[in-house]
Order: sequence, then structure tokens, then C-alpha cells
Amino acid sequence: MTRIRLHPSGRLVEVGAGATVLESLEKAGYALPNNCRAGACGECKVKVLEGRFDQGFVMDMALAPDERRQGYGLMCMAKPLSDELVIEWGTADAKPKLFPPREGQRFVVTDRIVRTPRIVELRLRPLRDAMRYWPGQYLMLGDPAAGVPLRSYSIANAPRNDGELAVQITRAADGLTSAWAHDTLLPGTRVAVNGPYGTFIGDPSVDTPVLCMAAGSGLAPILALTEAALRRSYADPVTLLFSAATADELYDRGLMAWWEARHRNFRYRPTLTRATPADARALHGRIPALLPTLFSDLARHSVFVAGSPAFVDDCVAAAKSLGAQPGRIHTEGYFPQSPPQTPPAGQLLVQRQAP
Ligand code: FES
Repeated sequence: MTRIRLHPSGRLVEVGAGATVLESLEKAGYALPNNCRAGACGECKVKVLEGRFDQGFVMDMALAPDERRQGYGLMCMAKPLSDELVIEWGTADAKPKLFPPREGQRFVVTDRIVRTPRIVELRLRPLRDAMRYWPGQYLMLGDPAAGVPLRSYSIANAPRNDGELAVQITRAADGLTSAWAHDTLLPGTRVAVNGPYGTFIGDPSVDTPVLCMAAGSGLAPILALTEAALRRSYADPVTLLFSAATADELYDRGLMAWWEARHRNFRYRPTLTRATPADARALHGRIPALLPTLFSDLARHSVFVAGSPAFVDDCVAAAKSLGAQPGRIHTEGYFPQSPPQTPPAGQLLVQRQAP
């Protein structure tokens, strides 16, 4: 049996046939951070202390040659080759906390709502059990047997009793999966879903003001986190800043208005980056530049940011300059997920020996 040993907790995780380290940890309920699941973002990087693994094809920007030499690996693509792989991850009392993801869960598309010229929202209801997930997590959609690669999409609603999930899908240029979802997942279609995945989740026990910043369909996980917080009568201020290029890319304004009317601690501020807003409440400009005009001190805030990697980086830098604490900043960057082509020679195998 192949297994992963977590250091320093010593906990053991069994590895299924052909599974990556990340998949094995998730199946056991461990929340190893991850995002692209394709060796492109570097979120799942850990140090391998002992054992051999096949790293697969990953990008140098996600795992630099120097980091490889120091023993780091990207666990979303790494498959153990030795009977035991020891990785440095978690605390001494590491405990599982995620719901194990399941593949091939059958859903029916119950509704299809055009949110913007490029974003469509699909409502999916399970044929059997509801998928258990934390707000902020994502699922994977696609039809690999038909040549449509699996892609990750954040779940845009907090868990519901009927198990309905909302996903908001941006039509990407040359995006096979997004075109398939836009054009063929019509109401009534059956679809297989894998999930849940990801660690962009709020801590239900936090007791701080919350600042959420989103751009494009980065709004989706923010919607789920905000809905969950408001639903449990969160008392501290919750502010949502949403950036769009033009007014027709602002969506879910009705829901925002309802939340503002119903929850006095919730504040929504949209901003347009490429057009002058007609709505007096909307702002003009990029969120990182606007942030100091809206907040003087973020030292007590929990900060959630979702959007393109550049948007996330700029928002995080702006939040830190206002005193936001790194331990309270949570991010979800949406990376392009082009499938790897031919692995370069020498990139497949990484080996670490016991010290
Ligand atoms: S590199 Fe592993 S999740 Fe992105």
C-alpha cells in the first residue's frame, strides 16, 4: 500500500491507484491549499522530506528549479513512486476538516440565467445526495470522454437543503469547457460533477469585520461566503467591493440590494474601471487604488479576494498597506488551465532521500 506521512503530525493517508498527493489528502479530508490543480499556480507547494514521486508537468513559475532542488513539489500533480512519501505539512495535531470530494455526482441543470454578456449562471440539482461543501469551495465540470476537459468553477451559493448549486461560468476565449457549458448545458441536461475542492473558506468562528473584493466571476465564491455569513446573523460589518469594466458586467445587483435592505451590517460598493458609472453609489477606478479612500485601517479585518491573479496580488498589497494581517487574508486567483503538452525531459521525476 502506498501512503503519505504528514510531518510533524505523523498522520498517515492512503494513496489510491493513480491518485495524486492532493487527491489523496482531500479524500482523507485534509485541507491542503490548491487552486488550479494543473501545476500552474503554486498554491499546493510543500516540501517533500522523504520518498520519491513523479512530479508530472508543471510550470517553472509555479515551481522554480531552485525550489525543486530544495525538495519542494506541487502536490496537485505529484504521484508517489515509493511506498511512503513524507511531506512537511500541517501542524502537530493536523486534523481532517474538509468534506472528501466525490467524482461523477449526477446533477440536472434546472435553470440557466444569463448574468452578463460573458457570464452564464447554471443552477444544478442533485439526482441523489446533496454535495457537502464549505462556502467558497469549487467543483469541476467537463466531459473528458467527449474531449471537454474538466475545469474548476466556484460554487456561488451557500449550501441549501435541496442541494442546489449555482455556478457562474465566464465564456473564455478558446475555452472548450466554458463554450460547452454555455452552449450545451441547457435546462434539463444531466451533468456529472466532481467536488468539492479548494480551501478558500471562511472560518465560521471569526469575529472580525469582513472585507470582500471580487472581479468578474470571482464574485461567485464571495457570494457563497457572504450568504453564509449573513445567514448566520454575522454582526460585524461586511463590505463587498465588486469591480467590473463596464456597467453591463455588474451582476447580481438585485441580490445585493436585498442583502443591504435586510442586513444593516452589509455594504455593497460596485466600481467600474472602464466607464463612468451612471449610478451615484457606484465608484470609478480599480479597487486597489480606491481602497485607501474607503478604509483607513484594516488591521482587524478578515479579507477575502477573488479574481485574476494580478487583481488578487494588487488587492492584497493594498490591503496590507492598510494594516491587514497576512493570517487573515484569504485569496482565490483564477488561473488559465491549459492542459500540459509534452513534459520536458528531466521534469518528471523528483527524488528526496531521508536526511
Ligand atoms: S500548482 Fe497545484 S494547485 Fe495550482
